[in-house]
Amino acid sequence: MSSCPWAAKRCLLVVSAVALAIVVMQGPANAQDLSGPDQHFSVTNPADLSPEEATKIYQSIVDDMADAYAMSGDPSAINYRRWRAFSSSPYPSATHGGRFVNNYGNALAGPYADGEGTLLPEGAVLAKDSFSVNIDGNVFPGPLFLMEKMAPGFDPEARDWRYTMIMPDGSFFGVTGGVDTNRVQFCVACHKGAGDANDHLFFVPEGFRSAD
Ligand code: HEC
Repeated sequence: MSSCPWAAKRCLLVVSAVALAIVVMQGPANAQDLSGPDQHFSVTNPADLSPEEATKIYQSIVDDMADAYAMSGDPSAINYRRWRAFSSSPYPSATHGGRFVNNYGNALAGPYADGEGTLLPEGAVLAKDSFSVNIDGNVFPGPLFLMEKMAPGFDPEARDWRYTMIMPDGSFFGVTGGVDTNRVQFCVACHKGAGDANDHLFFVPEGFRSAD
């Protein structure tokens, strides 16, 4: 467990959710892969992309990617690119299907920048877009991950967070308390591991926080 970035108690929860998360989150992405990559880059090892290389790749695909998420009609999917960025560059996220992700939040989510120990108010929304790069340098858009703080009582077990996953083609994979809620309960299961004191938030890894 020494490689686990969180306290051991939380880690157990997190690790048990990982297997399910990988199956669920990579399944649809692989289907997407069949339709061919959006871009091609020359990379030696996708896992070793520098922040500059990852940013360059991201910038080349983000407009198309965001247009596709917006087709869902979800207000956060439509607006998130105008929000504050909490990550300084795309960073690798093993827990979200081995992808590179970026982190954004709306105005009510501002205190997220303060990191661990922050509780966010009703109406706060956090958005993570994502992409992957395979060993041949092919780039694939990934899902958009959303957490929205709902009114008290929405889902006490989830600290009233609503979790949404939107696929790269703009379709909903699932929304807790909404369409295909069972498909996204694993989001809640893992995020609980971040603890109540952190409002079920894991925060951007050190070194990739926009204020770092
Ligand atoms: C196996 C654990 C795990 C699962 C499953 C998981 N996440 Fe996360 N999530 C994390 C970790 C760790 C972070 C912080 C690092 C990062 O961004 O990758 C995070 C960060 C986030 C953030 C930014 C807010 C924060 O916590 O810092 C959002 C939004 C998010 N996840 C949404 C989702 C959604 C939606 C799902 C389900 C489709 C999901 N996550 C599934 C572990 C998980």
